[in-house]
Amino acid sequence: MGLKKKIIVTGGAGYIGSHTVVELAQAGYEPVIIDNFCNSRRFVLERIKTILSRPVECYDCDCCQIDLLRKIFTAEGKIHGAIHFAAVKAVGESAHKPLLYYQNNLGSLTALLTVLQEAQVPYFVFSSSACVYGAAKSPVTEESPVQPATSPYGNTKQIGEEITADLVKSGAALKAISLRYFNPIGAHSSGLIGELPLGAPNNLVPFVTQTAAGLREKLTIFGNDYPTPDGTGIRDYLHVIDLARAHINALEYLEQSNAAPGYAVFNLGTGRGYSVLEIIKTFEQVNHLKLPVVIGSRRQGDVAVLFANPDKANRLLKWQTKLTIEEALRDAWLWQKSLAAQT
Ligand code: NAD
Ligand code: WQD
Repeated sequence: MGLKKKIIVTGGAGYIGSHTVVELAQAGYEPVIIDNFCNSRRFVLERIKTILSRPVECYDCDCCQIDLLRKIFTAEGKIHGAIHFAAVKAVGESAHKPLLYYQNNLGSLTALLTVLQEAQVPYFVFSSSACVYGAAKSPVTEESPVQPATSPYGNTKQIGEEITADLVKSGAALKAISLRYFNPIGAHSSGLIGELPLGAPNNLVPFVTQTAAGLREKLTIFGNDYPTPDGTGIRDYLHVIDLARAHINALEYLEQSNAAPGYAVFNLGTGRGYSVLEIIKTFEQVNHLKLPVVIGSRRQGDVAVLFANPDKANRLLKWQTKLTIEEALRDAWLWQKSLAAQT
């Protein structure tokens, strides 16, 4: 028991974090969650316990509070690595509350990195985003240049990557990876954990499932005049379980790659783009229902097409997506129905 490698998972009660906690525990690691529940609910911990048949340790703590982090690290003893999910993530809100985004996302990162250094923790994984590529031509590789950020949120990811890279470059005894997530969707196949809609969803698939559930009157397609085969925007949607698994591959890569550089970035996507219309059609087919859909105008800041070239992660992390878009959209609907059954 005591020999398991402890991994600090900030934001571990959130959408991607909770699925990663489950995968970590099932892979033989001992995840320790730090979350302040600003965008998650405490019942997630019970759900994780049900899936794993044992509890996972969780500290209710704001990661910006460095003194509290220090206490946690002292109490926990030897820590093998940390995965930093904790962040606020609403692109639109970030334009109205830039300081909240810079303070929370970068304050938590610098506090955590400071404590990781003090405790001589060797491995670190940072949650970055495909939004760093802006409107680059797809498929994007890790060599595609980072574009000027179009929102304070996006900027916190770019600066977060730079802070992490600079710390590794400074000679710190820390190896780190930034993972650039494309569009995570779906939920755990148990229907016990998934994305929690606190307020109106910002993303397509939660909007789709809430519309299917009758919580929203209709789904608006944000523009059908893009230069794409059916005119709607194209993205790289991956199942959240595949994304969660990648964090274990990232830790293994850091553990094994003595010769590799101390810092690396990886795209996490399927390599295949789906249009908004394809997502709607597939959702309707796999779940045997029909959505009320209207065409609206383009959403400000959206790019027409963004999908990954995931070769680097395939090759070096030995990771690739296994679950299909059909499975992801089926699991998203299962999760939405289980949420509805609770209320
Ligand atoms: P989420 O909001 O579901 O999870 C984030 C968790 O972090 C929440 O539980 C929240 O309570 C917690 N948190 C936020 N600030 C905190 C703080 N200061 N201290 C402690 N806990 C804090 O979001 P998610 O979708 O799971 O995203 C996880 C990470 O992945 C974020 O860094 C996000 O920016 C990044 N990301 C997400 C997506 C996506 O589409 N979901 C895409 C690219 C990158
Ligand atoms: C997908 C497609 C929309 C809603 C955002 C963030 C990004 C990252 C992931 C964190 C687009 C269209 C959407 C709707 C629609 N998050 N759409 N009707 O825009 O790729 O990325 O989430 O890092 O930073 O910007 O994802 O799910 O919002 O949109 O037509 O009601 O669906 O225009 O083409 P996006 P999304």
